[in-house]
Formats: sequence, C-alpha cells, structure tokens
Amino acid sequence: MTPPASASNQLDQEKRLAAAAALRWVRDGMVLGLGTGSTAAHFIALLGEAVRDGQLRVQATATSQASEAQARELGIPLLEPQRGLRFDLTIDGADELDPRLRLIKGGGGALLREKVLATASQYLLIIADSSKLVPQLGQFPLPLEVVPFALPWVLDAVAELGGSPVLRSDRHNLKEPARSDQGNFLVDCHFTHIPDPEQVAAQLQTIPGVVEHGLFLGLAQAALVTQGDQVMVVKP
Ligand code: 5RP
Repeated sequence: MTPPASASNQLDQEKRLAAAAALRWVRDGMVLGLGTGSTAAHFIALLGEAVRDGQLRVQATATSQASEAQARELGIPLLEPQRGLRFDLTIDGADELDPRLRLIKGGGGALLREKVLATASQYLLIIADSSKLVPQLGQFPLPLEVVPFALPWVLDAVAELGGSPVLRSDRHNLKEPARSDQGNFLVDCHFTHIPDPEQVAAQLQTIPGVVEHGLFLGLAQAALVTQGDQVMVVKP
C-alpha cells in the first residue's frame, strides 16, 4: 500500500538521513559497491557531492544501470566487473530487514547484481527508513529473477511452496512484463509470512530457471535505520 504524501515525505527524509549517516562510514581510497533504489540514490547523490568537493577519492561499481548512470553523471569513478575486484564497503537499501539482519531485496529489480556485489564485499551496510525494519520477513513480496523460458514451471513451483507468485509488469507499459538489467523476468512471491527464511531460500534455489531470489541471509554486517530524526545501528 502506498503511504499518504506526508508519510511518504517523512520516509524520504528518513532515507536521506540514513544515507548521510552511511557517508560517514566511507574512507578515502575505498572501493565501493553502490546499491539501487531511492535510499541508495540519496547515498549516491551525497557521495557525488563529496567526490566533487574533493573530500573523498573512491572508485565504485553499481548494482544497476540506473545507479551506474547516476554515479557517472556525478563524476564518481566507475570500475567494470573484473576478476579479483573486491569491495571494501557496499551501501544498499532493502525492502525488509529483520532484527537478525536477514533481508528481502529486489523491489527495484536489481537483486542479482546486488547479491553479486554483496558477496564480493567485505562489508555490506544497509540503509533504510523506519518502515523497513520488521519482526518477521514476508509482508513485502519476495522477488525472484527468472529466465523467461522457465516462467510457467517457476510459477507452478512457487505456488506449491505457498508463495502466490505474480509476474511483475513493466512500470511504463503494464501489458508488458518488467525485465531486469539482464533481460530476465521478475516474479513477486506473496508469502505474507516467512518464519524460516533459510528454508525458503534453500527451496527456491532448487527451482530450475530461478536465477536469483531476494532473500539476503548472512550477507549484511550492519544496517543504519532511521527512526524519526535518529539513526540507529542494527547488527545481527
Ligand atoms: C532494489 C532493492 C532496493 O534496495 C530496495 O527495493 C529498497 O528500495 P528503496 O530504497 O527505494 O525503498 O533491493 O532491487
């Protein structure tokens, strides 16, 4: 459900505060992973200002074409994917996080690249507004990236797991399916409650045609979550 305008402004302000707090975790010379979504976009904007003002020299790789375009526009030096490339710090948003720092990601469709960079990072720092911290995952539909050919069988398999799958539509043309940056489909799985994320992740990993799922387990080291005008650090 979309929050009313004033609540949505409040959440946007919280996202910006978390992003500003994350900038203080960046050290000169770091190699960074840049996340995707509105919270990550706030961070990239602030990082761009720091780079422009000569306060920070960093290099970065982005988790989506959108974040890459934003970073390029702001003059943040970009690194192509290459063997041996590791990230000191990746800063990314999340759709849901629980107190053990298990995450649902992929609302912006970038879950595959996000998981690749998270896995290649020494430290994954999540930035989030107060609405994202939940006692149990699953209210937010769990995204999957799916090879188009496999779609019907993936939908059957997810339905058997109780995930009520919905093929995501393109935002600009609702008659067309949304595509990831890799050209794959995105399927949103409405589990409502995920009491055992590890078990669901293990089950999803066995479905042929599921390229990646949006459960990020054991990947994040810390989260900066804004509550009103305070940013709190959540660690697993
Ligand atoms: C994109 C993501 C985003 O991090 C997630 O959707 C949060 O987005 P926002 O910061 O706009 O709320 O996983 O694939």
